[in-house]
Amino acid sequence: MSAVRAYWDARAADYDSEEPVEGSGAYWRHVATNVLCQRADVRKTDTIVDLGCGTGNVARTLAPHAKRVIGVDFSEAMLAQAAEDQAIAWVNADLRAAAVPLGTHVVTACFSVSQIDGEERRALFERLHKKLVEGGLLVLADWYANLPFDDIEGIEDWFPPEHVDEVAAMTVLRELEDRGYRVVHEPLHPAVSVLTAMRM
Ligand SMILES: C[S@@+](CC[C@H](N)C(=O)[O-])C[C@H]1O[C@@H](n2cnc3c(N)ncnc32)[C@H](O)[C@@H]1O
Repeated sequence: MSAVRAYWDARAADYDSEEPVEGSGAYWRHVATNVLCQRADVRKTDTIVDLGCGTGNVARTLAPHAKRVIGVDFSEAMLAQAAEDQAIAWVNADLRAAAVPLGTHVVTACFSVSQIDGEERRALFERLHKKLVEGGLLVLADWYANLPFDDIEGIEDWFPPEHVDEVAAMTVLRELEDRGYRVVHEPLHPAVSVLTAMRM
């Protein structure tokens, strides 16, 4: 089992009870999640895929506004916390290889894609480009840096640094643009960004 998956299996039971104290990692995760859900611009006819759905916070917020929502996560324990919502198809799979239906309208990924490496991330962006409808959205909220992480005091307490690919938001933006997306970058904090990428 990968170290990342083992970490999330162990955190599943208390993940949603973490207090979003202002200025903490949980707080910024909470802020970014709300922005991501707004940017997803979901319609009643849409198929949505939420990659790294965890306990299902994003999938559950979007489901009432969509036709179909699929939540993908490789941690069984995280999915077990989510499993009570019958309106969503929960899929236990690795987001690097998970099936995404052709003609998907919106893909969301909230603090999950930072946990794969750069090569895998770029391959994911290419694969999703083939699956999204033209004009479809890929919305990423993540630890995408707007300053070097080393310059941000206390950041090492926000997430296990060894599990996160430290990458500048502008690098991810360029990777997306190079692969046929038009991107809006919202820096919410020196270490947190939301990238809304439209598939052209
Ligand atoms: C910080 S949690 C975020 C959960 C949820 N998206 C949220 O915002 O509440 C990261 C999640 O990504 C999942 N994850 C990380 N790498 C993954 C991978 N390669 N495939 C599938 N899930 C992955 C973890 O299991 C965990 O549930």
